[in-house]
Amino acid sequence: MSFKEELLTKTQEIEELLKRYLPEETGFQKTVLEAMNYSVTAGGKRLRPMLMQETYRMFGGSGPVIEPFMAAIEMIHTYSLVHDDLPAMDNDEYRRGRKTTHAVYGEAMGILAGDALLNYAFETAAGAFALELSERTARAIQILAGKAGIYGMIGGQVVDVESEGQAISQEKLDFIYRLKTSALIESSMMIGAVLAGASDQEVEIIQRVAKDVGLAFQIQDDILDVTSTLEVLGKPIHSDEKNEKTTYVTLKGLAEAKQDVEEISNQALSALAILEHKNPFLEELITMLITREK
Ligand code: IPE
Ligand code: IPE
Ligand code: MG
Ligand code: MG
Ligand code: MG
Repeated sequence: MSFKEELLTKTQEIEELLKRYLPEETGFQKTVLEAMNYSVTAGGKRLRPMLMQETYRMFGGSGPVIEPFMAAIEMIHTYSLVHDDLPAMDNDEYRRGRKTTHAVYGEAMGILAGDALLNYAFETAAGAFALELSERTARAIQILAGKAGIYGMIGGQVVDVESEGQAISQEKLDFIYRLKTSALIESSMMIGAVLAGASDQEVEIIQRVAKDVGLAFQIQDDILDVTSTLEVLGKPIHSDEKNEKTTYVTLKGLAEAKQDVEEISNQALSALAILEHKNPFLEELITMLITREK
């Protein structure tokens, strides 16, 4: 199978897995359940559950304990997008090729659907204890919580919105990217490693790899915001300009931003190569992200 075929198969498997974990749309609170499922089933690359599963496999993991965590990380990521698109934040109308959740269900329901996805993510992840009552599972939950929170994704979003309209240093921009984007990617890969029984030192290396994968991923996101189209991306372009964001593109220019994506990704691949365990698909995935068009 070619890398592309393998990527497609794995993405479809993740789609099926996600469906199994989504709530049924019944009861008086039906509207919020529909809004949750609307945002999650819209598609998306499913990169975070994929990185989690591939890291798990790399360290020899094979049991089902990873599955609730794969669903949980995609729920948390999706909630971050639903809130990121709200009028009070980036105020965007399209996501994953559809109208944003708040545009369809209203702002209150957009806020609640995001909150609901975050809570349901932890309810889902905690289900892993029924599969494996171990210290590894407990550590995985702790990583999931930490990387989504004030020292992770939320922390990054705070500084991102606070910095709108301001010129900021590369140091501060790196802080924002490390938190708003790398944190959930670190969470994904670290949980995969921890659940498969990787050593503390190995988890540390995985964290470094994921930090760089996330950084490169966000820089590429900034690039696509100026070079792509709504049709290809499934979300509006020029969102950053509209919100007066400092990005890698405004700070360093397009050419240097592109160079940075490649350099930082190669740095991630070099760190990955230190490890005794190998996963060629994971390496190809990180390589493919350098030239991704969506
Ligand atoms: C978008 O993430 C938000 C960023 C961190 C840049 P993705 O580009 O992974 O979005 P989906 O999941 O594929 O829609
Ligand atoms: C968002 O960064 C990162 C999140 C934590 C959601 P962006 O605001 O650039 O993401 P997009 O471009 O809307 O997907
Ligand atoms: Mg944003
Ligand atoms: Mg945005
Ligand atoms: Mg963006």
